[in-house]
Amino acid sequence: MPPFDPRKAYAPQEEGTAFFDDGREIELLHFVYSHPNIEKIRGSPNDVLAAIDEYGRAKKYLMNVGEDKGQIVTSLIADVKPKVMVELGGYVGYSCILFGDAVRKAGGQRYYSFERNPEFAAVIMSLVDIAGLSDTVKVVVGSSDASIQRLFDSGDLKHIDLMFLDHYKPAYTTDLKLCEELGLITKGSVLAADNVVKPGNPPYLEYVRSSTKEKIAKAKEPVKNGFDERFPEKNAKQYAKRVDQEKYSTSKGNPYLVYKSKLIESFEPTGEPDGVEITRCVGEEM
Ligand SMILES: C[S@@+](CC[C@H](N)C(=O)[O-])C[C@H]1O[C@@H](n2cnc3c(N)ncnc32)[C@H](O)[C@@H]1O
Repeated sequence: MPPFDPRKAYAPQEEGTAFFDDGREIELLHFVYSHPNIEKIRGSPNDVLAAIDEYGRAKKYLMNVGEDKGQIVTSLIADVKPKVMVELGGYVGYSCILFGDAVRKAGGQRYYSFERNPEFAAVIMSLVDIAGLSDTVKVVVGSSDASIQRLFDSGDLKHIDLMFLDHYKPAYTTDLKLCEELGLITKGSVLAADNVVKPGNPPYLEYVRSSTKEKIAKAKEPVKNGFDERFPEKNAKQYAKRVDQEKYSTSKGNPYLVYKSKLIESFEPTGEPDGVEITRCVGEEM
């Protein structure tokens, strides 16, 4: 058998081929539950992750954070030791299981996975259950902005120690601003944003790398929507097409928060270059 080549395994067969939501996520569940090692997999986050990887290699591509970037965030979890961690965008639960397990090992209490597609959320819940992580992980179904607001209003979410952003790219900045406005992000909070190189997220990078002075000036301008021209052209067009279906928070955020931010270069599971932007809130200017 030729050596495994992730570029080939993960490449779409032809342009326009669906990358997701074509039934593969439910097929993954059948794959895991009918796995010859299912009894060994039960209660073992690592074995569930290995089974997801096995499906991705043998069957169809799954848009997971992957090993390289996963390692960056698990190291960050060991360092930050978050009591409460939030992920925006759960898909089938790969990052949720990897990071939820790391949060539990670091002594944390809660890992929230926000996923708007109810079928994907059901897959996450099922795999989290097999992994034995249901005591730590809570999957929240719905659009991230509505979920953040609802959990804040109910008093379940009072502070975010670490947030992993991996959902709809234009919503990175708008959701962060909502969290800021609600006081969920304070000195000590850390953000890890995926895909800031591929496909790229210039508006988010600009925001977290701006000084408070720059942010205060920008906060006076009207809030931009998803078709921000700073996104790469191809993506900006896609976001523009979806503008009526997508809802964004219009929060102005808290421009007084001081961030220190840096890019950690890494790779997509396909082998393509990508990076995770790690941003630490180091204070608030009065
Ligand atoms: C790249 S995938 C997440 C991959 C996952 N973090 C992992 O590494 O295993 C992005 C996911 O975000 C979800 N999503 C997109 N926009 C969202 C939103 N506004 N709120 C919640 N989920 C969203 C999509 O349905 C999709 O499942």
